[in-house]
Amino acid sequence: MDGFRIRSITKKDLPALYKLIIDGWYEYQFDAGRISIFRNWKLQVRVFLVAMLSSSILFRENCFMAFITFWLLENAFLFLAVIYSYRRSIKNYIPESMDEAHYITKPLGFWIGETHKEGQWKIVGCIALYKMGGGVASCSAAVSLERMSVTSKVRGRGFGSKLLQYAISQASNMNFREIILDTSDVRVPSVKLYLKHGFEVISTEPWPDPFRLLDVTNLIMKKRLTIF
Ligand SMILES: CC(C)(COP(=O)(O)OP(=O)(O)OC[C@H]1O[C@@H](n2cnc3c(N)ncnc32)[C@H](O)[C@@H]1OP(=O)(O)O)[C@@H](O)C(=O)NCCC(=O)NCCS
Repeated sequence: MDGFRIRSITKKDLPALYKLIIDGWYEYQFDAGRISIFRNWKLQVRVFLVAMLSSSILFRENCFMAFITFWLLENAFLFLAVIYSYRRSIKNYIPESMDEAHYITKPLGFWIGETHKEGQWKIVGCIALYKMGGGVASCSAAVSLERMSVTSKVRGRGFGSKLLQYAISQASNMNFREIILDTSDVRVPSVKLYLKHGFEVISTEPWPDPFRLLDVTNLIMKKRLTIF
């Protein structure tokens, strides 16, 4: 395994950090398209009606084939529109929500994981602990785990686990009783990672999506901490 270290972030890490987190979100762009369109039955009813009306008005002879073509084209158009809108939202939202103050002053801890290669340290992952608030009920004994990400090229080598274990030990040292996080059912690797490290699902209630695109089942997970 390459050399790996974990350290607190500094201001000069921000551009690399934005890229890391934005790339982690982009991975779910196709899920955003698929879920927004095919889990939304009201939208599908409209697509069906428009395809049926246009095919029966415009192509009376080959109405069925025209219907299928319209239906496919409409869904393809919507799919591309959702992906475009998702990518644009993420690209703007991450730097806006992760300005210097938010990243360096507000969190209880914000760490990056780096690998050592050819004489240089390269950022490959990040994780943060925030005070509770915003969505999950506020609780002074609990801390919120956020911004967990590992760059795709080095996944499966245990770096995610190392970052998570590090954040867990930091939360313990800060005397928090539990760690709470939210993730989604489409993020299968992260859910498995959290389960492996002793988190349990405590809620599957819908979580407000800032982009109103990824209508996924959101999972809130919790881990009790041992206080030393
Ligand atoms: C989730 C993530 C951080 C895991 O990073 P990683 O460095 O690959 O994790 P590890 O190598 O330490 O793997 C630890 C465990 O995670 C789970 N896991 C990791 N990748 C997985 C995959 N592709 N499929 C299923 N489980 C996976 C496994 O339980 C694994 O343990 P195992 O190897 O003993 O089976 C990484 O996939 C990621 O950055 N994803 C995109 C961003 C994201 O979704 N972040 C979470 C936000 S809530």
